[in-house]
Amino acid sequence: MARKIGFIVGSLRKDSYNKKIAKKFATLLPDGFEAVFLEIGELPLYNEDLDVEGKIPDAWTKFREAAKTMDGVFFFTPEYNRSLPAAIKNALDVGSRPYGESVWAKKPGLVVSASVGPIAGFGANHHLRQSLVFLDVLVLQQPEAYIGSVQNTLNEQGEFLEDTVEFFQKIVDEYIIFFNKLTD
Ligand code: FNR
Repeated sequence: MARKIGFIVGSLRKDSYNKKIAKKFATLLPDGFEAVFLEIGELPLYNEDLDVEGKIPDAWTKFREAAKTMDGVFFFTPEYNRSLPAAIKNALDVGSRPYGESVWAKKPGLVVSASVGPIAGFGANHHLRQSLVFLDVLVLQQPEAYIGSVQNTLNEQGEFLEDTVEFFQKIVDEYIIFFNKLTD
C-alpha cells in the first residue's frame, strides 16, 4: 500500500505560489508514495471549549481523521509578517488536541517556504519548525527548502524552470531517504 504524505499549504489564495510548488512536489514523489492534500482553509479557529464540551466541528473531525492516517507531512508556507500564516498554525493546533491524541507525533516532516521576497520566508519557516519541534514532528534538516523571489522560478507559461525542478527533486529524494530511515 502506498505511503501517504499529507500536503498542507499555508496560502488560501487560488493563484498561490506555495500551492503551485506543492502541486509540483506531488508529481516528484517516487512510486509507492502518494500526496494527499489536506485542506485547512475551512477549519474553524481552535477553541478548547468545543473539545471539552463535545461540540466538535465536523471540519475538525474530518481533518484529524485524515491527518492521523498520513505517514508523513509536507508543509508549504508563505511568510506573513515575518511569521507563519494563521491558517497553518490553526491546523497544527486543531490536530494537536484533544490532549494526548495529537495527529502529528513522530511523523517525518518537511517544511518548504516560498516568498516573492529574497528572504524566502525564513521567519515563517523557522516559526513553523519551532511548533513542529514541540509537536514531535521529525523534520528534514537538509537541504533547507527556501524558495526566494519565487515569481522568478517560473517561465512565461507558468512552469517551473529546470534548475528549480532539479532543486525540488533533490529535496524530495533526501526526504525519502530520511523517511525510510525513520520508518524501517
Ligand atoms: C506578505 N508577504 C510577505 N513576504 C515576505 O517575504 N515576508 C513577509 O513578512 C510577508 N508578509 C506578508 C503579509 C501578508 C498578510 C501578505 C498577504 C503577504 C508577501 C508574500 O510573500 C506573497 O504574498 C506571497 O506570494 C504569498 O505566498 P502565496 O500566496 O503566493 O503562496
